[in-house]
Amino acid sequence: MNLSITVNGINFLNPFVLGSGPPGTNARVLAKSFDAGWGGAVAKTVSLESAKVVNVVPRYGKLRSRDTGEIIGFENIELISDRPLDVWLQEFRELKKAYPRHILIASIMEEYDKERWQELTRLVQDTGIDGFELNFSCPHGMTERRMGSEMGEHPDLTEEVTRWVTEVARVPVWAKMTPNITNIREPSQAAVRGGASGISAINTILSVIGVDLNTLRPLPTVEGYTVPGGYSSQAVRPIALRMVSQLAQALPQGVSISGIGGIERSHDALEFMLLGASTVQLCTGVMLHGLKIIDELQEGLTKFMADKQFESVAEIVGKSIPYFSTHMDLVQRMKQAKRLRAGESSRDNDWADKSITEKTAELTSN
Ligand SMILES: Cc1cc2nc3c(=O)[nH]c(=O)nc-3n(C[C@H](O)[C@H](O)[C@H](O)COP(=O)(O)O)c2cc1C
Repeated sequence: MNLSITVNGINFLNPFVLGSGPPGTNARVLAKSFDAGWGGAVAKTVSLESAKVVNVVPRYGKLRSRDTGEIIGFENIELISDRPLDVWLQEFRELKKAYPRHILIASIMEEYDKERWQELTRLVQDTGIDGFELNFSCPHGMTERRMGSEMGEHPDLTEEVTRWVTEVARVPVWAKMTPNITNIREPSQAAVRGGASGISAINTILSVIGVDLNTLRPLPTVEGYTVPGGYSSQAVRPIALRMVSQLAQALPQGVSISGIGGIERSHDALEFMLLGASTVQLCTGVMLHGLKIIDELQEGLTKFMADKQFESVAEIVGKSIPYFSTHMDLVQRMKQAKRLRAGESSRDNDWADKSITEKTAELTSN
């Protein structure tokens, strides 16, 4: 089965892309991911001066299912890449030479300064990378230097900085959005006005993963203290799906969406694609389960396409979007289907008739 898809003129062998973060932190892991079968990768975010980037240990925290112990939520307070730009530029060049058919997207971030953004764009572009992702969305650490989500939270800055980049970029530019805002459409539309060809959504959600009840210290604890960090993994998927579906309905035709947030399996990836994503990115899933999850992703997509008779991956994109409506319309549809009595028989007064858990189960669809 042909799993390729062309997005903003870039042909991906398959829609599965490593998200920016530890899985794309140097050329060796990126090469391994291409060997394993990933269609593309967004490298760890780079900036002009890596010396300003100092990470802490520990910097991750987990939320586990009470029943099974499975990791369902993940917090990080990791910064962008601490590796020198010169090294990265060399690695981008070598990777593109060795893997011309795999898509390499560079994630870039800088301070609020036109010359710095344009210098970074030119330097990285000259290596032959296939596209840019602008990191307007890292919610911790970098914000103290007014970078990352400090930009993505302000549509006017998002538009201005995107324009600085698109003035000099000759390859497609995606803007990566922070979910830590009220309306994801506003900064996304601003990025499109600034010339972005695509939107990547979402970056991590601001969070505090827990508190150690022995020491009373919030987690992850660094020398006794912490800062709120970015939440990812399975638990964020419904929020990411909602945001991607809103973008699919709001963005102009031709603007692509790269769906991110809690994807681990083909089932999760397909949900994002059905809601409008033409590529999907995975970060925490790869950190927890390894690069080999690409096998299940490809197998699951292939099987789904055969079962549902999709001829191409592009046909899947946005297929479930027409089924969003208004609440008033749902009531109307129930009336037409003569199911209103079912609705009436579950009015709020009836909750006392059964146990709360039974009543909850009765009203749940899956
Ligand atoms: C440890 C860690 C480091 C990350 N570093 C970056 C980064 O440098 N740049 C970036 O744009 N996103 C970064 N992210 C965000 C991810 O790319 C992704 O948007 C987010 O984690 C949600 O997807 P996931 O649930 O598949 O991880 C990082 C995430 C994690 C967990």
